[in-house]
Amino acid sequence: MEFFATLEAIRDESDIPVKLGRLRELATALDSIAQVSFAPETPVQPVGNPSFAKICQIVHGSQVGKRRNLGTTEGRIIFLHALAHIEYSAIDLALDSAYRFRGLPPQFYEDWFTVALDEARHFAMLNGLLRKLGSYYGALAVHTGIHDAMARSATSLRRRMAATHRHLEANGLDAHPELARKFAGFTDTAASEIRQALKIIFDDEIKHVAAGDFWFRYACALDGASTDIFTEDVTQAIPGTKFGRKSLNISARKQAGFTDSELAALTDHGL
Ligand SMILES: [Fe+2]
Ligand SMILES: [Fe+2]
Repeated sequence: MEFFATLEAIRDESDIPVKLGRLRELATALDSIAQVSFAPETPVQPVGNPSFAKICQIVHGSQVGKRRNLGTTEGRIIFLHALAHIEYSAIDLALDSAYRFRGLPPQFYEDWFTVALDEARHFAMLNGLLRKLGSYYGALAVHTGIHDAMARSATSLRRRMAATHRHLEANGLDAHPELARKFAGFTDTAASEIRQALKIIFDDEIKHVAAGDFWFRYACALDGASTDIFTEDVTQAIPGTKFGRKSLNISARKQAGFTDSELAALTDHGL
C-alpha cells in the first residue's frame, strides 16, 4: 500500500469500524516497512467534506447541545458525545497533516501518524463509554469547528501547526483540570471511568501539543518567521479567536513547549 493515498482514504472513510481497522492495518504494515511504499510526488487534494458528515447531523456551533448537569446520564451523554466528536475530528486532522505536507523529515510523518493512532484510541474509549450509557457517536448533532480550521490551514504548514495542533489541542489541556474536578465530585463507577479516560487523554494530548510546538517552530524557521506570528496564524485559520480570556494550564503548556514569555503574552495579566 502507498502511504499518502492510504492516509487520504482512511481520513475520508466514514464507516467507523472500517476506518479504525484500516488505521490499525497501516500501523502494522509500517512496522514492517517493506509493505508500505512512499510516493510524495503524487498530487495533494484540497480538503473536502468532513468524513463525519455521513455519521452526524451537522449544525452551527451555537446549536450544539450544551451539557448541563454532569450528574445525569443525559448530561454525561452530551459531554461525552462532544468529546468523542473532538477526538473523531482529531483523527482526520492528524491524518490530514501527515498526508498534506510533503518533503519533510520522516519524523514528521511518524509524529502525526502516531497522533492519529492516539486519537483513534481516545475516540474508541469515549464511544465505548457512550455505549455504556445507551448512546453512540452519531446520536447527536455536531459542529465543524476543527474541520474548518483544518481547511483554512491546508496551504501552510506553519498555520496548520499553529492553529490546530498547537492551539486547539492546547485548549483541551486548559479544560482538563476543571473537568477532572467536576467528575471527582461523583462517586459512581461511570464517573470514575470517565475521569480515568480524561486523564489518559490529557497525558497523551500534552505529547500532541509538544509535536505541534516542535513542528510550528520548525515551520517558522523554514519561513524565516518569528514564533511571535503564532496568534496571527491562529486567527487566520480560526477567525474571531480571542486570546487572554480564559485561564491557561500553565504547567501542561510548559511541558508541551510554550515558553514563559509566550504564555505571558497569551494571558491578560501576564504570569
Ligand atoms: Fe485526543
Ligand atoms: Fe490530540
